Amino acid sequence: MTEMAGGRLASAPQSTEAVGSKQIREATASPVLLGVDKLVRYFGGVAAVDGCTFEITRNSITGLIGPNGAGKTTTVNLIAGAIKPKSGRVVLDGEDVTGLVPHRLAAKGLIRTFQISREYKAMTVLENLMASPRDQSGEKLLNVFFRGRVYRAEERRHLEKALGVLADFGLYAKRNDYAGNLSGGQKRLLELARAVMAEPKLLLLDEPMAGINPALVDVVTEHIMAMRDNLGVTFLIIEHNLEVVERVCDHVVAMALGSTLATGSMAELRANEAVVSAYLTGGEA
Ligand SMILES: Nc1ncnc2c1ncn2[C@@H]1O[C@H](COP(=O)(O)OP(=O)(O)OP(=O)(O)O)[C@@H](O)[C@H]1O
Ligand SMILES: [Mg+2]
Repeated sequence: MTEMAGGRLASAPQSTEAVGSKQIREATASPVLLGVDKLVRYFGGVAAVDGCTFEITRNSITGLIGPNGAGKTTTVNLIAGAIKPKSGRVVLDGEDVTGLVPHRLAAKGLIRTFQISREYKAMTVLENLMASPRDQSGEKLLNVFFRGRVYRAEERRHLEKALGVLADFGLYAKRNDYAGNLSGGQKRLLELARAVMAEPKLLLLDEPMAGINPALVDVVTEHIMAMRDNLGVTFLIIEHNLEVVERVCDHVVAMALGSTLATGSMAELRANEAVVSAYLTGGEA
């Protein structure tokens, strides 16, 4: 993605050619980036996801809401390829990607963020970013004489990009700290920063505001909106805090008992009787 060159969130100057090709891509692209069609997934005899269907508009933030056990995390896991559906389809950018494994989906720009695991906590903040996926052109080069030099240049570009991303996320001063020593909110920002390194088209977030203090909720939401506006990232976000959903999300999908109850703005869903009753009853009719 040319618009992500250098990994800067701030609006870096773009060449006319890059802007032109981006405009052509946007003019010809369908407004739908992701389609989820009648997804079904059982765990034992329990239908965790049962006919879930919705679409995600390109360059927007879609909220996925619903009571506990509605099937939100399972839906995100199905989209991300972590588990396979019994039936139904996931279509990314017009291509059927149902059942593809996570790294194949990541190569197509569909990324799911994960909490910083124990292994990554023992690495510095900068190492966390350097360890994220990258363009491996050095490995494709057959000429062994040039391989080392190309590889080093690539490493340098990767490092510069990582430092730029850390600066954008306010983590530059922490670059040599162990990730495990960051605060809860800073870890959340690091997860987003790592995702930016992978240049996602679609980013799936499962409760990104959970367990962080209210001031950092604002910081995280601002970064998410900046990634949409400046990097063209599309988001699907599971979130229980409906005020955050109302403030951040362009569209909202409400689930209960494994299927989609309604879609619309948060204001529309607040006025939707089926959605209100699902929250009161857990989704039982
Ligand atoms: N690995 C699993 N094995 C067995 N049952 C599961 C598994 N994962 C989810 N379930 C069940 O599937 C249903 C949907 O769970 P899921 O975690 O997708 O809901 P959720 O909407 O994300 O809930 P929450 O808001 O609590 O995170 C629940 O009944 C849950 O108990
Ligand atoms: Mg969940």
